[in-house]
Amino acid sequence: MMKIQHLPALIVLTACCCSPKYELYTDYPPVIPAPAEVCWKKEEIKVTEIVRKLSHDEIPEEGYHLQIDRQGIVLEAHDSAGLFYGEQTLRQIMDEKGRARACDILDYPAFPYRGLHLDVSRHFMSTDYIKTLLDLMAEYKLNRFHWHLTDGGGWRFESKKYPLLTRKAQARMESDWTRWWDNGQRNFVETGTPGSYGGFYTQEEMREIVAYAAERHITVIPEIEMPGHSNEVFFAYPELTCKGTTGSSDYCIGNPKTFEFLFNILDEVMDIFPSRYIHIGGDEAGKNDWKTCPACQYLMKNEKLEDVDELQSWSIRKVEQYLNGKGRRIIGWDEILQGGLAPDATVMSWRGEDGGKTAAKMRHHVIMTPGNPLYFDHYQAAPSFEPLAIGGYNPLERVYAYNPLPADLTEEDHQYILGAQANLWTEYIPDEKHAEYMTWPRAIALSEVLWTPAEKKDWNDFLVRANLHTAQLIQRGINAFPLRNIDIQSEVDTIRQEIRIRIKKENLLAQLRYTTDGSQPEYRSPLCDSIITIKDSAQIRVRLFKGKEALTDAISYDSDYHKGIGKKALYNSQYYSGYAAGGNTALTDGKRGSWTYLDGLWQGFTRPMDVTIDLGEKQELHRISAKFMQVKGAWVYTPGTVEVLLSDDGEHFRSIGVKKTAISMDDFEIRFETQKFNTTDSARYVRMKATQSETKEGTFIFTDEIIIF
Ligand code: ACM
Ligand code: ZN
Repeated sequence: MMKIQHLPALIVLTACCCSPKYELYTDYPPVIPAPAEVCWKKEEIKVTEIVRKLSHDEIPEEGYHLQIDRQGIVLEAHDSAGLFYGEQTLRQIMDEKGRARACDILDYPAFPYRGLHLDVSRHFMSTDYIKTLLDLMAEYKLNRFHWHLTDGGGWRFESKKYPLLTRKAQARMESDWTRWWDNGQRNFVETGTPGSYGGFYTQEEMREIVAYAAERHITVIPEIEMPGHSNEVFFAYPELTCKGTTGSSDYCIGNPKTFEFLFNILDEVMDIFPSRYIHIGGDEAGKNDWKTCPACQYLMKNEKLEDVDELQSWSIRKVEQYLNGKGRRIIGWDEILQGGLAPDATVMSWRGEDGGKTAAKMRHHVIMTPGNPLYFDHYQAAPSFEPLAIGGYNPLERVYAYNPLPADLTEEDHQYILGAQANLWTEYIPDEKHAEYMTWPRAIALSEVLWTPAEKKDWNDFLVRANLHTAQLIQRGINAFPLRNIDIQSEVDTIRQEIRIRIKKENLLAQLRYTTDGSQPEYRSPLCDSIITIKDSAQIRVRLFKGKEALTDAISYDSDYHKGIGKKALYNSQYYSGYAAGGNTALTDGKRGSWTYLDGLWQGFTRPMDVTIDLGEKQELHRISAKFMQVKGAWVYTPGTVEVLLSDDGEHFRSIGVKKTAISMDDFEIRFETQKFNTTDSARYVRMKATQSETKEGTFIFTDEIIIF
């Protein structure tokens, strides 16, 4: 094996006068994903001829060895994918004049499965768009395209055997997902109906995509959803549901015609897609109709299946057997673990990593796609200046920080984790430009997660390269997110009695400016270039500028060093364990929540909230407040009423007032409401009670701090 020297990953970041294009440069070519082993030399070489050699046994699969020196350019690889990836790297190294920095690179992927998923059911995306996506994936050495072809939003796969699918189950009269789905009009119209919205891929188009992807060393993995997420199918073939009507999401498992249909469809799928893996969905089946359907119940009895989970598992095993018989293997979402995992199945872990961990321990292959941070339909910056997203918060840095190998698994378990994938569900992504916006540059962070050895990852180094690549992508006409996230973190120091706030940006060419009095930051406001220290109360507003131009609206962050910090909270009603936000100290730790209830700082209650703070001794009080959040889509509502009570002994309480919410439960926007109580009383105990806006089970109250002055 050749010897490679490692240079320190030194980055020079300068406002530059000699590079007019991006005003940012690195002291070596900004390759993404960063190569596994690299030694950069000083010389620039004019690229004339490239000597390519294959079948080099010492180079790992998909890997390559690229040497650029005065003798010329030699690219060796183990296989054709490796040669291809070597050329991608060379393209990133070369400048416009065809000159390349001398180097010696031995490069190979950390994971064999490096995927992107695209949901084309909720919103149809053209083959042109998919080709552009594949082009970009290839540049960044991503090698699996998971094509989510069928779902409740429309059937997109042309079947010759079942032509009604693309005649009756792909076009709808409403493109907007919420209006179409929530208003109970989840129906389809005949293809060609004037004013209808939809689309599907002909078999020829899909073959073309498969070939286009293969030229770029990308495998297309088709997904046909079953047994749930299939509402659209029943507009063409209602006889495949338990009740024989539309309105269900699930196939009837007890009906042999279901399997005749699925096997015929899968035959057509396999004829088009040579991928070893076929994705059979498996997520979020309703399973309700199965409980009362005579055919399903009869099957369960005959097959000695205990419950509907086992019935689902039976159906997956049957499909797996069929596909195995044709030399294929199945991938399913992690619900296929319920009721028993099919013997050869690969699990795609999306509800966190638990499903993936369980499957790896069972010695099944796993692909990690945890919603946090790999769902790219989640926000990448504050919703106040971003297009509507499904929720969540998966900014670039969190994607970059992801490691598909959970620390609590053994090395042997890790062998079963093939890699990871980001998923783009398109309920709230109505068009291709928007899809592009949500994908890039987060997908380049993913590419480094999956290609570069974990120990060589370096966020600060990556961020410079990501800024350069994002600028290039935008210049090439790709609608990439222009890196305008602002991230706020705070540290509470009870010894110095202060809160220190650190505000970070992604965009290295922009300036963060701030105010602390709640006013709107302008381009003359102070630069946020160091830590902000708060001794009492501050209403911080931060905003990103490029020169005089504001790139974002302001982000708000209130901070108070108050009397309750570090004091004991007694929970008269328990918070919800899934949103503990640090547990019993969450409401007196000085840490304030951000715009997302998923930041681990908002404490959730599914029962009326009732918390008493013990200040340790009786003291004079002036004002008591708490901020609440409403995110209707996540069943989070501002409380109907909030009451504050005071006590000297912790037993006898006197109310200082009750406040009602002013926010409508029908309000879909993310809302915040601070309920504030003034007093001149003295007390040792401060109690806050908040009641749900309605009694419907499962609604949440979220608050981040009880502030006592
Ligand atoms: C999924 O997000 N339902 C796999
Ligand atoms: Zn049934």
